[in-house]
Amino acid sequence: MKLKVYRYQDGMESPRYDSFELESRPGLTVLGALFQFQEQFDDSLSFNYSCRGAVCGTCGMLINKVPRLACRTQLKPLLRGELKVSLFSYPGIMETIPWDPAKEVLVEPLPHLPVIKDLIVDMDKFFEYYRFVEPVFRTSDLNPEKERLMNPEDVKQLEEYTNCILCAVCFGGCPVVGQNPKYLGPAALAKLYRFHLDPRETTDTSRLEIADIKNGWWACDSYGNCRKVCPKGVPPINAIENAANELKSKKK
Ligand code: SF4
Ligand code: FES
Repeated sequence: MKLKVYRYQDGMESPRYDSFELESRPGLTVLGALFQFQEQFDDSLSFNYSCRGAVCGTCGMLINKVPRLACRTQLKPLLRGELKVSLFSYPGIMETIPWDPAKEVLVEPLPHLPVIKDLIVDMDKFFEYYRFVEPVFRTSDLNPEKERLMNPEDVKQLEEYTNCILCAVCFGGCPVVGQNPKYLGPAALAKLYRFHLDPRETTDTSRLEIADIKNGWWACDSYGNCRKVCPKGVPPINAIENAANELKSKKK
């Protein structure tokens, strides 16, 4: 089994791909394979990781042309063709180099963000859009006498969105982000909707108005890749469609 890895650093005219024969073992993840690559082939390979348990959101990469978390993706099922995800195609995931998916696992940086080195991308734009939606809890009642109770149904609805770990996998998987670099993107919009849903905040649509702009809710073309690639089961497309519908009915 081989790992084929994208390599780039400042000063190179164009990226190259390095191939490395792996020592396979049950449960080996792409992140584990990258460590092997560093230890046995080239210790200058650069990639981000921290928790190794799908919690910190730092190891998002393009793996076999699908944005995924490296720490959560095992190699053997990939080579057996078991982890296929059918995505709406866009230039970032099109095949541009020779690659045999039955023998090789292809690892590249997340699309739509500038590459700093190898598999490390610059997340500034992603977090700029995240900050734009003002993702902080706001309530009119700052000092309640008692704790704010929520009913289990509300908690369940919110949880779909609070599970986001800001890995930017949906950002790299969204065709619209590739076409329109000013689009706020699925993660920021899902986060904004999460605060709109929170019953401890105001119940009007004022939160939604933050993204009532050309590059906010209205830029989404409903491709749905975001929901398919999210490693935490967050459905940004539902948030975006619900928000757009609420704003439309308010404007009628
Ligand atoms: S919505 Fe999912 S894919 Fe997007 S940043 Fe959050 S956890 Fe990652
Ligand atoms: S290393 Fe933390 S999510 Fe993969």
